[in-house]
This record gives sequence, C-alpha cells and structure tokens, in this order.
Amino acid sequence: MNLKEVVKLADDLVLAKTGKHLNELQEIILRGTWEDEGYKEIAKAVNRSEDRVREVGMELWQILSQEFGEKVNKKNFRSAIERLQNASVVNFGQDVVVSGTFNICGEPRHPPNIPNLHPPNQETSHQDLSEMPELGTFFDRTSELDTLTTWILQQHSRLITLTGISGIGKTSLAVQLVKQIKDEFEYAVWYTLDEFPTIDKFQSNLIQLFSNSEKQDSSPTNQKRLPLIKYLQNHRCLIVLDDVHNLLCSGELAGKYKPEYEEYRSLFKQI
Ligand SMILES: Nc1ncnc2c1ncn2[C@@H]1O[C@H](COP(=O)(O)OP(=O)(O)O)[C@@H](O)[C@H]1O
Ligand SMILES: [Mg+2]
Repeated sequence: MNLKEVVKLADDLVLAKTGKHLNELQEIILRGTWEDEGYKEIAKAVNRSEDRVREVGMELWQILSQEFGEKVNKKNFRSAIERLQNASVVNFGQDVVVSGTFNICGEPRHPPNIPNLHPPNQETSHQDLSEMPELGTFFDRTSELDTLTTWILQQHSRLITLTGISGIGKTSLAVQLVKQIKDEFEYAVWYTLDEFPTIDKFQSNLIQLFSNSEKQDSSPTNQKRLPLIKYLQNHRCLIVLDDVHNLLCSGELAGKYKPEYEEYRSLFKQI
C-alpha cells in the first residue's frame, strides 16, 4: 500500500467508527508515522505542542485498534496495516481501493444521507429464512459485525460480499448478522445457492414472496408481476446468498460466471 491508500483506508475506518473524516492533525500524524517520524518531529513540523500531538495520536490509535480488532499504536501501525491486507471482508457496494488481496470500501456511491426508511415492525416484515443454517456457539467477530452493520444500516451499502477460503466462518458471520439486523427490513431472505438455481428460478422465488405478502397486505388483486429489481427498489430487503462461488467457473480468474449463470452478473450490477 502506498501512503495515499493508507490515509484513505484509515479515513474510511475512522469514518465508519465515528461518522467523521480524519481531521487535519490526525492525518498529519498518520503520514508522519508512516514515514517513521517521531511525535516530536511531527509536532515541530506543524508547530503544535508535542503533548497535543501525542494525545491526538493516542485517540487515533484507539479508534483504529477497535476497527482493526487488534491493538494498534505508533510502533506497530505499519505491520498492523500489512496484517489487515489479508482481511476477508469485502464491500463491493462502494468504491473499492484494491491493494494486493485487500479491498476496503471508500465513499458511498450514493449520497450517505439517504433518508432512513422507517424500519418495519415485526408484524409487517416478511421473512424466508428456512434455508439459513442453525448457528451453534458463536465467538468473537464483534468488529466484523459492527463493520457490516454500519455498512448496511448506516451507509446503506447495497451489495457486500464476504470472501475467504472455505471454513473461515463466512456463513456463520452472515447468520449472526442476519439474526441481529433482520427486523430492520421489510423482507429478510436467505438462499443457499448449492442447488444452482437458474436466475429465472431464483427471481421467481423472490417475486413469489413479494407477491404473496402484497396479497396478504390487501393490495389490489390481479397485480402485474414486476421485474425483481422493481420490488427491490420499492421494499427494504435483506437478501443473503450463500455459496455464490457456485455461480462462477473454478480455475479461472475471479468473476467469470458459468455460462448458464451469466445473468446473475446483471442482477448484481443492477443492485
Ligand atoms: N465465530 C465463530 N464461532 C464459533 N464457531 C465458528 C465461528 N465461525 C465459524 N465457526 C465454525 O467453523 C466452521 C466453518 O464455518 P463456516 O461459517 O461454515 O465457514 P465458511 O462459510 O467460510 O465456509 C463451522 O463449523 C462453524 O460452526
Ligand atoms: Mg459457507
């Protein structure tokens, strides 16, 4: 990672945690730390007291420690960044800075201050979580859950992927997340793509769920079926697709869909 990417990454993490961008002094401290400068040198360069610079630095390391899930300080900042490069949570809903294997969200593409849709209460929410696996004992993952919750509920990210080798805990993390936030949505659906549904089958399953509940909600009868994306635009939905790798060719560069599943690409792009 170069310095610009490091500052951008830190800014994203601080924004996710505090709702504010890095301030000028925080950024100067980050840049100085990356260049191996001491607090004394940094303070001199910006004409501030060393105590003040140290104090702001400590606050910054504290915020980053929470987001990194490990203790970060001036001495280990560089190595902590390197470890984070192997992080496994990827957010495609936003602009992405890619460096090696590490991707992290940038500014949301859509305005961050989208008005909050009224969270539905449980009576109006429609859930199909029959395919969601049972979760046994679940440990840790607090910071990942916080990050995902912020991306979804506060930043309104529309598409997020969890990637990593098999057995790393992606499904478990997603199950725990769904349990925590499902009631914030009108619809919550879990699909495991191990039976390779065609896009038509997948879309009609979802549309069926929307249509059923619209009928139940006593909307006009004989309503015409709309394309799936229209339902997704009109309702606040949490949809989890597990085992999405089944849609992709193995042994190819990432992102090559099997010919019969090519249309999923368009759906993801629409979202
Ligand atoms: N946070 C966790 N706490 C406890 N067990 C976990 C946790 N994450 C994963 N596991 C266990 O590890 C195994 C693999 O997890 P899983 O979520 O299926 O991984 P993946 O979806 O990445 O292949 C499962 O048996 C699961 O119960
Ligand atoms: Mg899994």
